[in-house]
Amino acid sequence: MRRGTTIYLYELFWILPSIAIPVGMLVALVVFTFGAGVHLPGDHGRVEPTAVLATPPFDQPGTVQVGPGQYEVRMVSGIWSFAPNEIRVPAGSTVTFVAASRDVLHGLFIPRANVNVMLIPGQVAHVTTRFDRPGEYPFFCHEYCGIAHHTMWGKVIVEPASKADRHDGDSAS
Ligand code: CUA
Repeated sequence: MRRGTTIYLYELFWILPSIAIPVGMLVALVVFTFGAGVHLPGDHGRVEPTAVLATPPFDQPGTVQVGPGQYEVRMVSGIWSFAPNEIRVPAGSTVTFVAASRDVLHGLFIPRANVNVMLIPGQVAHVTTRFDRPGEYPFFCHEYCGIAHHTMWGKVIVEPASKADRHDGDSAS
């Protein structure tokens, strides 16, 4: 009897973690999915890498305003640069990066923003983030892509909203 109880406690010692660990992982998955917005790449279309530069919107890489405080960056990655590699938006902007690779696997990582996405050849990547604080936000390729991988970077320059207003005033006058 006593021996049976010992085995039961010993089993319990393993049963509890074997339940607690998957439950903990499930909770972490839910928290990161809905709280931090971490998810697998979605299906946002496909583009043949060799045809990227001839396919809209990648035939005209750059930053376009798509609404009040909303911008879309149409980005082409290729060995070993991003186009555009300098992006300017006013503080408080919501920016969607629409990016594709014209050759091999690259990555787009903005450490100071919630952007960390693989640029898989053939796949269009969409990622949206918000830039509230003025300053420079460097971005990098974080998938090894060849001899000059380390030179593949750029920056988002978030301008104070008042300065952006002055720009608008300048162009209007
Ligand atoms: Cu592109 Cu590393």
